[in-house]
Amino acid sequence: MTTTTDSVPYADVIELGRLNTAYAQSKILHSAVETGLFELLAEGAADETVIAERLGLNPRLLGDFLRALAALDLVRRTGDGYVNAPRAAACLVPDNPYYLGNSARAASARHYAMWGRLTEALRDGQPKAEQAAGPGAFERLYQNPEAARRFLAHMDSAHALVGPELAAAVPWSRYRSFVDVGGARGHIAAALATAHPQLTGGVFELPAVEPFFDEHMAELGLADRISFHSGDFFTVPLPAADVLVFGHVLHDWEPEQRQFLLERAYQALAPGGAVVVYDQMLDDAEPDLASILGSLNVALVTGGSEYLVQDCRTWMEKAGFRVESGRRIRTIGSDYVLVGVKP
Ligand SMILES: C[S@@+](CC[C@H](N)C(=O)[O-])C[C@H]1O[C@@H](n2cnc3c(N)ncnc32)[C@H](O)[C@@H]1O
Repeated sequence: MTTTTDSVPYADVIELGRLNTAYAQSKILHSAVETGLFELLAEGAADETVIAERLGLNPRLLGDFLRALAALDLVRRTGDGYVNAPRAAACLVPDNPYYLGNSARAASARHYAMWGRLTEALRDGQPKAEQAAGPGAFERLYQNPEAARRFLAHMDSAHALVGPELAAAVPWSRYRSFVDVGGARGHIAAALATAHPQLTGGVFELPAVEPFFDEHMAELGLADRISFHSGDFFTVPLPAADVLVFGHVLHDWEPEQRQFLLERAYQALAPGGAVVVYDQMLDDAEPDLASILGSLNVALVTGGSEYLVQDCRTWMEKAGFRVESGRRIRTIGSDYVLVGVKP
């Protein structure tokens, strides 16, 4: 058989070869965050010797590690050594509103190992997160204050774009109050209250989250605008508000529990009130890789999964809502937001 270069599928082989090792790029990012490289370079340029010394790194792999980071445009070379590339300065140095470092830490410490067991999960259908999933999983997580803090920081970090997008995706000028149900330590509630000064906000969460919420609101200077409602949403009625938000909450539960929560929301709202649901919902008419991977990620963590936009519309309508709008928003996981109004 003669092979001409015309018949060699160069592009496919190269692309699939790169896909095969795409995890290596993630690990370069994770290690750069875990070693504190971006914080160091935020102080100023540093050469390889300084980086090795300050971060306690062995020189053997360091040169290639820095070259890889430069090829990924996370650092840049200058005459004085390396500096943060602009996007690393914006998203990988702490105290930035779009800081993604906590997400990178969570991906490295928890999700990476879990994805390593995908084939096993495909065979047995079971979640693979280190911490047991299922009923009581959040309560168990919050028993360890350090793990709780890491999880809540990861929520802020993973969803930094949700706040601004949600602030624009809902007709907030019609409303005066909202409660973010399962709103973690209040990061998204803070973004909504800041973008819409007429709004008074609330977060409904498990009791263990309250101290973290109090601390975060004090840091953001929003303690007087956003209040905490303590409880388990499966046993305690939801608080009254003009709008109830469920963000990345329904995906943790079975379809019957999602329906139950939407019915609880309907009971708590007055006519004209709205429910807002966002998740990395799936739409087979417009497949979106980020949300499909998000769905598998949730399935590996909790045993839940994302769900079809159409299914969510059906649950909302069954609960009594008139679905008023639905659209994809620009977030890391490409979320879809649905707004339903109680007639
Ligand atoms: C995946 S996080 C979503 C956080 C946030 N809404 C967001 O969009 O990033 C799910 C949240 O639901 C909360 N939660 C879980 N079970 C709950 C329950 N039974 N009652 C109230 N909140 C609960 C958890 O504490 C957690 O903060």
